[in-house]
Amino acid sequence: MKTIRKITILGSTGSIGESTLDVIARHPDRFQTFAITANKNVEKILSQCQRFQPRFAVMLDQESSEQLASAIKTTNIKTEVLSGIESLEKVASHPDVDTVMAAIVGAAGIRPTFAAAQTGKLVLLANKETLVMAGRIFMDLVKQHHATLLPIDSEHNAIYQSLPHHYNGNLATAGISRILLTASGGPFRCASLDSLENVTPEQACAHPNWDMGQKISVDSATMMNKGLEVIEAHWLFEAPPDKIQVVIHPQSVVHSMVAYVDGSVIAQLGNPDMRTPIAHAMGYPERIESGVSALDMFKVAHLDFEEPDFSKFPCLGLAYQALDAGGNMPAALNAANEIAVESFLKKRMAFTDIPAMIKHVMQIIQREEILTLDDVLKTDKLARAKAHEWLANL
Ligand SMILES: NC(=O)c1ccc[n+]([C@@H]2O[C@H](COP(=O)([O-])OP(=O)(O)OC[C@H]3O[C@@H](n4cnc5c(N)ncnc54)[C@H](OP(=O)(O)O)[C@@H]3O)[C@@H](O)[C@H]2O)c1
Repeated sequence: MKTIRKITILGSTGSIGESTLDVIARHPDRFQTFAITANKNVEKILSQCQRFQPRFAVMLDQESSEQLASAIKTTNIKTEVLSGIESLEKVASHPDVDTVMAAIVGAAGIRPTFAAAQTGKLVLLANKETLVMAGRIFMDLVKQHHATLLPIDSEHNAIYQSLPHHYNGNLATAGISRILLTASGGPFRCASLDSLENVTPEQACAHPNWDMGQKISVDSATMMNKGLEVIEAHWLFEAPPDKIQVVIHPQSVVHSMVAYVDGSVIAQLGNPDMRTPIAHAMGYPERIESGVSALDMFKVAHLDFEEPDFSKFPCLGLAYQALDAGGNMPAALNAANEIAVESFLKKRMAFTDIPAMIKHVMQIIQREEILTLDDVLKTDKLARAKAHEWLANL
């Protein structure tokens, strides 16, 4: 008999959260939704409560949680409604939970993701920002508390699937020469450098292959997403930056590759649908049905690969710089990027101001070692303040 796994989904109303619930709905004999969380989207979380009947629903925002609680009172659902960051941590670390999908967007996801690792959960990590901001201390925490970490980002999940079975975190002894991290190139892959000045948020969010939340869509358009993923791959697979090569692959069919010293390259392929990596991680080590249609190689027909253009997409180079500098620099990069993306989406600055703001913040923040989560949060706060100052003077 299968044991039913109890899952908390942090960020259930987002793109990853919804795909996770879709996979859960296909396997009622395997998974039970213990808790779901959101920031403010009352309407969507209410309908999720009605369908999945979780024990807890948490809204970060107090007013939204009050609205949800009064809406739930008019139904026969037993879900308990909570609010605030401590409640997010509570449902991520609850003793009845064994699996946590970390799918809150941005730095806001770090505290509940830490709480899940600290209590030894199976952590399905979509929130790449946790690793970008606090890679070393998060990986140490996972080891110390015997948590299990499985990557949800399609590229990292593909790398995980392409690595040797018992990869021990040493590329050389595993016979690996390089990790090839694929990138679609985003909506502006073929745009001229001059035209980027005037692109709109709507254009930036119109990703050619993936349907994602707004923040990651803009990150894909600037290629900061790939930069964040280089840092994520560094921590997940203990790969030095010069062993992680970004490869533009416009079709988004090859989700990443591992190159071996004997000349072999192992890749994972599939249609661009996040339910594949989600189902892989949720079912691991078994394979379970995800709802994703089979890859039709005859329809795909061509697989193209190009080198990235670092001058058109300076965010990619900034991420490599932050990784090389180490310490608090990736956290500064991440915080400045979040403010830059938010300001661009609110039409307060141009698309090309995004790398300019991040570069400025990275220049004025002093490099420091990161030893604790508080150190990370201190840099995060300072970098956000510096980014806002830069914007005010624009
Ligand atoms: N989408 C993808 O295909 C994809 C692929 C790979 C990795 N990822 C990563 O997965 C994470 C989620 O991405 P997404 O595209 O699913 O994002 P999204 O669609 O924007 O959803 C974000 C989720 O986080 C919640 N949230 C937002 N701000 C919050 C805060 N301050 N505190 C607590 N919860 C908050 C949102 O709640 P509300 O709905 O109430 O705002 C929503 O449930 C990101 O780290 C992203 O980089 C995404």
